[in-house]
Amino acid sequence: MKKVKVSICTGTACFVMGASEIMMLEDSLPEDLKNSVDIEIDGISCLEKCGNAQNGKAPFVLVNGEVLSAATISTVIEKIRAIAEE
Ligand code: FES
Repeated sequence: MKKVKVSICTGTACFVMGASEIMMLEDSLPEDLKNSVDIEIDGISCLEKCGNAQNGKAPFVLVNGEVLSAATISTVIEKIRAIAEE
């Protein structure tokens, strides 16, 4: 089973911009993904991405080390699905 590690930035900027909602990811995961990928979700402190507009917009989420900016539950799920289908 493929492993996917999702680290959600819980620093202030990301939290305010919607990271708190992304923390509900586990409840929103489609059943097929839950059954095909071993998903670990945790929160991490500020990734230091929020201070530079070139990095994109908060909230930032790491999916297997890849940074997603302006992340939403949908874009995180899409990314997990892409990894699952690799
Ligand atoms: S608060 Fe998330 S990158 Fe700084």
